[in-house]
Amino acid sequence: MVDKPAGHTPVLTHEVCELLDIREGETVLDATVGLGGHAGLFVQALGSDGTLIGLDVDPANLATAKERLSDAPCRVRLLHANFAEIRTVLETVGIDRVDVLFADLGVSSTQLDDAGRGFSFQRDGPLDMRMDPRLEVTAADLINRLKERELGDLLYYNAQEFGARKIARRICDVRREGRITTTGRLASVVARALKVDPTSRKSKIHPATRTFMALRMAVNHESENLETFLEAAPDVLKPGGRIGIIAFHSVEDKPVKNDFRRRKSEQVYGIVTKKPVVADAEERRANPRSRSAKLRVAVRLPE
Ligand SMILES: C[S@@+](CC[C@H](N)C(=O)[O-])C[C@H]1O[C@@H](n2cnc3c(N)ncnc32)[C@H](O)[C@@H]1O
Repeated sequence: MVDKPAGHTPVLTHEVCELLDIREGETVLDATVGLGGHAGLFVQALGSDGTLIGLDVDPANLATAKERLSDAPCRVRLLHANFAEIRTVLETVGIDRVDVLFADLGVSSTQLDDAGRGFSFQRDGPLDMRMDPRLEVTAADLINRLKERELGDLLYYNAQEFGARKIARRICDVRREGRITTTGRLASVVARALKVDPTSRKSKIHPATRTFMALRMAVNHESENLETFLEAAPDVLKPGGRIGIIAFHSVEDKPVKNDFRRRKSEQVYGIVTKKPVVADAEERRANPRSRSAKLRVAVRLPE
């Protein structure tokens, strides 16, 4: 089921399956079902008695997952929901606790590649970045409304952008002449602020990479959602249940690492991955997105 083309290659699939150790008849909650790549493997392991609950904030991705999982051998419930709401979701589906919780954070390749969604500095489009259409504030709203100091903080704290103050100043100067409404315009304003030529061979990553990530995180409240999810997780996991989280940058990975460590000291979790699991050379070559992926897994200890 995973090899049906869907424009997004799931990362660390072998490692996820091995470490989550999904057994027949279990209940798995895939909190970021996306295009159903990982979920396609989970349903095979679950067999006919198992249950997969898949959530996503993006109805377009959810529609693809629905199609892709249509011939799954187990029960499948897909819901348009934020993983910050896992307690409510489980109440809605009438399930108390699950055997496995999984989240593959961030955006999918399909979201990045769609210029109309405004996630990418490589494709010109409206400065939107909302994963969930129910959200009202777009990236353009933040860029054009926030005060210089607020913008600087957003860039620094969400993505550790060391040029945050320079970028914020430049954005405020430029927007006095007119709103910044496209990804292309923002990318060039950032490059000018940092005095980096994005086409130069010297610049390994595009100078606007961190700015775009910081904005995406703010628009979608990513840190707050992750924090709420991590907080709720032990209450919805059965004893012996496993939690696996894939993060793509340190701002996401650090709270996971800290949460697992704290829960270990409180004897709530046992840590399965002492160090984060990363992609091997072959996967890194085949799928550049896997290069920054870090998987952490923990097991819920009995109460
Ligand atoms: C990296 S993709 C997941 C890909 C998926 N594992 C697969 O193999 O197809 C991340 C997905 O998480 C979704 N997402 C991001 N934040 C979310 C949240 N707070 N709640 C639910 N879904 C979220 C995005 O819309 C996106 O579809």
